[in-house]
Amino acid sequence: MAAKGAKGDQSGVNGRMAEVTGAEMRRVLGHFATGVTVITAGTADGPVGMVANSFASVSLEPPLILFCAAHSSETWPEIQAVGKFCVNVLGHRQELLAAQFAKKGSDRYAGVDHLISGHGNPRLAGAIAQIECRVTDEHPAGDHLIVVGGVLEMEIDESESAELHKPLIFYRGDFARL
Ligand SMILES: Cc1cc2nc3c(=O)[nH]c(=O)nc-3n(C[C@H](O)[C@H](O)[C@H](O)COP(=O)(O)O)c2cc1C
Repeated sequence: MAAKGAKGDQSGVNGRMAEVTGAEMRRVLGHFATGVTVITAGTADGPVGMVANSFASVSLEPPLILFCAAHSSETWPEIQAVGKFCVNVLGHRQELLAAQFAKKGSDRYAGVDHLISGHGNPRLAGAIAQIECRVTDEHPAGDHLIVVGGVLEMEIDESESAELHKPLIFYRGDFARL
């Protein structure tokens, strides 16, 4: 089914959908609700992190996940140099934390409760799940890089209250709750 406003198959040179703009991609793909993660790593200069909603599970055997890093990201090269990262899946009360880790030119860890894991990755307090990985593959894809992570260790918040386990959602360009 064509998206509203689409003009049929506009595949041109190299099959590129010439009529599809970035704004249209955002508007239409924004209808696919996602969770929100903070990808963290421990560098020699201290902890780094960036928000990513492009996270997905890939393979069970071997255990693999992915997220996509924009070529414009200044944090990704720092994570890449370390070769390891932690995916912190944010809970529904962590909207401000998400905004803090998406903002450029600020101390993203200011006031953020976290510990450094045995793998050297920052684990953010209050995250409902944490997936520690090493970078196993990188695939260029347009203006992003598909980063594949081999899972080293995982943990979920085992606290009693189911309310605390609810995820933060990103939907149509805004944060939402279940
Ligand atoms: C909800 C949300 C989801 C995001 N998802 C991604 C993502 O999947 N990949 C990415 O590279 N940046 C994503 N960003 C942008 C980054 O969090 C961050 O703003 C960007 O990496 C710029 O900072 P940096 O230059 O330090 O990397 C997202 C931002 C928000 C608010």
